[in-house]
Amino acid sequence: MKLLLDSSSSLLLSVLLAQLPLFTSALPAHARRPHADFDKLTNQTRHLQKLTHDLIAFLSGDPVNDHPMFKSLPAINIRANDLSSLELKPTLSQLHADFKTFEHHFQWLNKVTQKHHHSSAPKLGEMISHINSLIGLLQRQMLQVDAPRIAVSPPSLPPHPSSQWEINQSSKALLQRFRLFCDWAARAFLSLKSKTQA
Ligand SMILES: *[C@@H]1O[C@H](CO)[C@@H](O)[C@H](O)[C@H]1NC(C)=O
Ligand SMILES: *[C@@H]1O[C@H](CO)[C@@H](O)[C@H](O)[C@H]1NC(C)=O
Repeated sequence: MKLLLDSSSSLLLSVLLAQLPLFTSALPAHARRPHADFDKLTNQTRHLQKLTHDLIAFLSGDPVNDHPMFKSLPAINIRANDLSSLELKPTLSQLHADFKTFEHHFQWLNKVTQKHHHSSAPKLGEMISHINSLIGLLQRQMLQVDAPRIAVSPPSLPPHPSSQWEINQSSKALLQRFRLFCDWAARAFLSLKSKTQA
């Protein structure tokens, strides 16, 4: 799985890299419309947040506390005044790495829900493909501004939950964290957009 992901993303990267010289030389800098890309990133992130919200509602029952089993989820800093001090390149690199880490977790959850024919499996599959398209968009933006990639090693994940109840609990724990993260990421993209206007 890891091999597959890596080779497809490096394929994507080489396709993008191949287009880059053409792209940059054909267009003056101001015509590259980085703002439009940031709008798209913000929109897609808000859309993911909505999908996450719906999936949490679908998994009936009480909200859960932060699950101690997910130790390798990104820490989220949601202090509002942090947003204005964000720097373009490191923030893009970090958001990219964080989305990848969440994606690893959702792949893990996807395996569990498929194995147990859990009713959330199709919605989860849809979410994962949206996460991947957002990651693709983010990679394009990173190439444009020459932001480095942070290597993401696969997180250490807990053993698969086995009962429906456990699956619901860990799904909700993961989704709640992701919803918070998306909220922060969408605001970060907006803040970065204003920096590219300078
Ligand atoms: C983002 O969504 C808003 C409304 O939901 C829409 O007006 C806008 O055109 C979208 N922007 C992009 C770049 O997709
Ligand atoms: C788990 O979630 C599914 C999907 O919403 C729901 O139908 C089921 O009743 C839940 N099971 C438990 C044990 O909470």
